[in-house]
Amino acid sequence: MATLWPPMACSAKPTVKKESPHATNMESIVLFGPPGAGKGTQAQRIMDSTGLPQVSTGDMLRAAVLAGTNTGVEAKKYMDAGKLVPDDVIIALIKDRIQEDDAKNGVMFDGFPRTIPQADALASITAVSHVIAIEVPDERIVDRICGRYTCGECSSVYHDTFNPTSTLGVCNSCDSTDLKRRADDNADTVLSRLGAYHEQTSPLAKWYESKGIFHRIDGDRAIDDITTDILLVLR
Ligand code: AP5
Ligand code: MG
Repeated sequence: MATLWPPMACSAKPTVKKESPHATNMESIVLFGPPGAGKGTQAQRIMDSTGLPQVSTGDMLRAAVLAGTNTGVEAKKYMDAGKLVPDDVIIALIKDRIQEDDAKNGVMFDGFPRTIPQADALASITAVSHVIAIEVPDERIVDRICGRYTCGECSSVYHDTFNPTSTLGVCNSCDSTDLKRRADDNADTVLSRLGAYHEQTSPLAKWYESKGIFHRIDGDRAIDDITTDILLVLR
């Protein structure tokens, strides 16, 4: 029987070449955009084509919260409030992750970097070939976030209306019935997260535009069309 999740209460409207810890051909991609833009959705769809593993700082932080590590306890206060977790915590997580075997040819960052200090740190860790900005108007975001659910087994992302599972309560990818809502997916937190995006993250667009590696994709379309356009940019 499918796990039932709680009903939602949602009514609000150039390559920077620096030293790499691995091989010299290591080149990463950044998926950039506001909360709910579809970064996670698209990362899962282009992973096979790019051959790069998805590295989501949000997923890493949620795993740390679940495991009750010191990082998780520290991060939870910020995540619950819809604020960015401090840069030193995030940069330490990424430095560790990038040392893993599957990252030796680069990774696909999802939700990192989100501040200028994070982007500076990234430039000293790995080369970035493309920053893909998935652009979605603010007024679409609340509906997307409040209808989201994810698979607890394989992290596939779904939506009550826009992208439901084929069989109610069963993950399309792994058949798990462990479908969950995220703790920070509520209307109040979404507004704080959007505020943090506009104040602290969106200024990074200019930074990457000046390097000639920033690609804007209209994210307010069908999921398949967005995937097609991202793959065209990465070709
Ligand atoms: P994180 O987990 O990264 O959350 P986020 O950036 O807020 O982004 P989301 O995961 O909410 O959205 P998404 O773009 O992945 O969209 P999705 O594909 O799921 O971060 C959570 C928190 O951790 C932060 O608030 C912060 O506290 C902390 N944190 C994380 N990284 C940090 C960092 N680097 N620095 C500091 N703090 C950090 O899609 C959303 C929904 O829309 C889904 O239901 C999906 O099915 C649906 N959907 C997707 N595409 C479409 C489409 N084209 N049309 C209709 N519906 C769609
Ligand atoms: Mg995500």
